[in-house]
Amino acid sequence: MHNDISEIYFSEQDLADRVREMGEAITRDYAGVAGSDGIVVISILRGGAVFTCDLIRAIDLPLEVDFMAVSSYGNGVKSSGVVRILKDLNTDIRGRHVIIAEDIIDSGLTLKYLMQNLESRGPASMTVAALMRKNTENQADIPCRYVGFTCPDKFIVGYGLDYAERYRNLPYIGVLKPEIYQ
Ligand code: PRP
Ligand code: MN
Ligand code: MG
Repeated sequence: MHNDISEIYFSEQDLADRVREMGEAITRDYAGVAGSDGIVVISILRGGAVFTCDLIRAIDLPLEVDFMAVSSYGNGVKSSGVVRILKDLNTDIRGRHVIIAEDIIDSGLTLKYLMQNLESRGPASMTVAALMRKNTENQADIPCRYVGFTCPDKFIVGYGLDYAERYRNLPYIGVLKPEIYQ
């Protein structure tokens, strides 16, 4: 285990198993609607990238993947609530069935903004697949069809999640020692 981590919260195996189940659920749910155009999975960079890469390989449907980069946290530990689009989609999602793939819902502000923004582009449908949803008070009310895990209000990193851009490459999700960010 990495020296800056106090506890492994979701192991590599936990993540692999759950992401596979999520992919299977999406495959079942969209088998009737995907058609030959398939679905568009929108990965929210950077945190959502690792989850997305595993999720799409667990979905057995015609599928496009595109990436959008937003940031609300910068290098801080709290959401600023101000979401900036750093990179937009290349895909026109009008009339398409869209699934947004995110690593974590914390305050919910990132997804609240993103869903409003993407909805205005006229997709045929839009759902959210989030690997984790934090158990936090005052979370924005985000309709999230696919949730991998509920997690406690701790500072977690790994499997795409960073602190100051580090730790995204850990293959598990672990709790960051407080002395690292205090
Ligand atoms: C993190 C995380 C989610 C968002 C969740 O992204 O990856 O996108 O915050 O927080 P919220 O529900 O409170 O909005 P961050 O802004 O840190 O950018 P990153 O993905 O590049 O790390
Ligand atoms: Mn993110
Ligand atoms: Mg971040």
